[in-house]
Amino acid sequence: MATDIAERSAALERLDWDHLHFYVGNAKQAAHYYATAFGFRITAYAGPETGVMGRASYLLEQNRIRFVLTSALGPDDPIARHVLAHGDGIHDVALRVADARAAFAAAVAAGAQPVTEPREVSDGHGKVVLATIATYGDTVHSFVERDAYRGPFLPGFVPLERAAQAPYDAGLLAIDHCVGNVGWNEMDRWGDYYAKAFGFSQLVSFDDKDISTEYTALRSKVMSDAQHRVKFPINEPAAGLKKSQIEEYLDFYGGAGVQHVAIATDDIVTTVRALRANGVEFLSTPASYYDKLSERVGAIDEATAVLREQSILVDRDDLGYMLQIFTKPLQDRPTLFFEIIQRRGSLSFGKGNFKALFVSIEEEQAKRGTL
Ligand code: FE2
Repeated sequence: MATDIAERSAALERLDWDHLHFYVGNAKQAAHYYATAFGFRITAYAGPETGVMGRASYLLEQNRIRFVLTSALGPDDPIARHVLAHGDGIHDVALRVADARAAFAAAVAAGAQPVTEPREVSDGHGKVVLATIATYGDTVHSFVERDAYRGPFLPGFVPLERAAQAPYDAGLLAIDHCVGNVGWNEMDRWGDYYAKAFGFSQLVSFDDKDISTEYTALRSKVMSDAQHRVKFPINEPAAGLKKSQIEEYLDFYGGAGVQHVAIATDDIVTTVRALRANGVEFLSTPASYYDKLSERVGAIDEATAVLREQSILVDRDDLGYMLQIFTKPLQDRPTLFFEIIQRRGSLSFGKGNFKALFVSIEEEQAKRGTL
C-alpha cells in the first residue's frame, strides 16, 4: 500500500524525543547510578504497588531528558530475557508525536514491522495514546501522544522524590542524537527504513576512509527529521586489520542495538568537570591531538589547556564548531555509552575526531583483549 508523503509528514510533524526506555538487571540500583553520577532526578515510579505487576520502573528527569529504567521481577518476562541476551541497554527509543495512530499507520504502511497496535491508556490525569514499531535488533520505537495527559509521566506511574542526588550539577539539557550499531552491510537497509517509515533524510555519511585507523574501521550515515531534532546515526562495521569496535559491540550486545546517546549541554567544560567529580569515567584523548587542534579547527572560545586537561574534542564544519567527549561503557559489557556534546552552530557529528577517538577506543579494546 502506497503512503501519501504529505500524510506521513503530517503524522510526524511535531516529532521529538519522548523518552529512552532502558531494560536493566536492577532498576533500583541503576536509577541511583544515573541520578548520582549524571545528575538526574528520580521523579516517578511504577510497579506492583501502583498496579503494574511483575515489573519495577523508575522515571529519571533532567531538563528536557527523560529516561525510564525497568527491571523484571521474575524470569518469565520479555524484559528478563532482553537483559539475559543483551545486558543492560536501551530497548525503546520513544518518540513524541501529535497523533500516535497516524504515525503508526504511516510507518507500518511504509514497511515498519508493527509491535503493538495503537492503544489508549488513561487515569485520573488524562489519556495517552501509545503504539510501537520495531527497528534494528530487539530495539523498538514507541510513538507517544500525550497532549491530553497531565500526570507525572504515563498512567501507572506515581510521583516519587528519591533523595539520591548528584554531588555536582551536570547541566545536561536534551538528547542530541541516538546511534544504532547494525550488522555487516546493514547500514543502507536501516537508513532506507528511516527514510521510508519516518520520512527522514540523510544528513551526512562517512565511509571507512573517514572513520578508520591503522587497525579498525566503520561506516556511518546520519538520518534526521527535517527540523534536525531527532537524529539517528547508523553504524556498520567495516573490514580492518583488527576487530572493529562495532563488531565488539555486536558480539557483546548479541546483535544490533543502541550504541550511544549524545546529550547536549551549553557549557561542556563545567558539565565534564561535574561528571568527573561525580565519578563518571571518560575516554582519554591522545596528547598529540591538542598539539594540532588550533591548526585544524581555528579560533574557538575555549582554552586549549582546559580542553586538554578534560580530554574534550573539537570539530568544525561550515556552520560553526562543536565540542564532544565520550564516556566509557555504562555497564560491564562494552556496549552502551554516552557522548556529551556542545554545539556552537555546527551540525557535525565529529568526523574530524573519529581517528583520535578510535585510537583511544582501541586502547580500551586492547585492555579487554578484544582488538
Ligand atoms: Fe555521536
